[in-house]
Amino acid sequence: MRIDALSIFPEFFEVLDLSLIGKAQRDGLLQINRVQLRDYAFDRHRTVDDTPTGGGAGMVMKPEPWALALEDVLASEGSAARPTLIIPTPSGEVFTQAAAQELAEHQHLVFAPGRFEGIDERVTDWAAERFEVRRLSIGDYVLNGGEVAVVVMVEAITRLIPGVIGNEESLAEESHSDGLLEYPVYTKPAQWRGRSVPEVLLSGDHAKIAAWRQEQQRQRTRQVRPDLWDAWLENHSADQ
Ligand code: ADE
Repeated sequence: MRIDALSIFPEFFEVLDLSLIGKAQRDGLLQINRVQLRDYAFDRHRTVDDTPTGGGAGMVMKPEPWALALEDVLASEGSAARPTLIIPTPSGEVFTQAAAQELAEHQHLVFAPGRFEGIDERVTDWAAERFEVRRLSIGDYVLNGGEVAVVVMVEAITRLIPGVIGNEESLAEESHSDGLLEYPVYTKPAQWRGRSVPEVLLSGDHAKIAAWRQEQQRQRTRQVRPDLWDAWLENHSADQ
């Protein structure tokens, strides 16, 4: 997979060189290009923002640097014919595990996080003729800019690419992969500060352990995320 991440603070993306995603890049499974948006602003101050038309607080990102930077990505060697452009914004659709799974199949993702009050809306319309555009939010809260949201989405997406995480079985069992939250996990010692691990996990009875874990998943989801629990019940009504 190829990823281009554009920003006036591309340093935010340096954390993606660490750990498993860094290794995936070194192994050639993934290529992440960081692009400085100010390299596409040509006045003396390399200005990327301006006042909002119609008035109001804050500043809006100008369309020209974005278009020039995105055109450069499209013209670069190895670009997909119609890459997917992801614009992180609190006013987008919510980014979920299902979205991560779907995006993990794409060949070329381009991230365009805005700062200030956001990017001039015409960039989205212009880009839709050249990219498959998604406006995505990582949750119902507001960040100072979309860069951290890019890091979150890139990590959630790229760990699903075959070969990126060592133990692929763990993907199948984690929270959200089957619509339920993950069961609680324990390790040695069996006794720790007066607390024991649940007896069943020491039984060696794999069927019993699997049933206990399923039940824990259900209880946890029902208590903590009634929204997910209702959706799960709906999807599994035929099995009950
Ligand atoms: N930019 C600012 N807040 C955001 C959010 N919640 N999700 C994605 N991008 C954002």
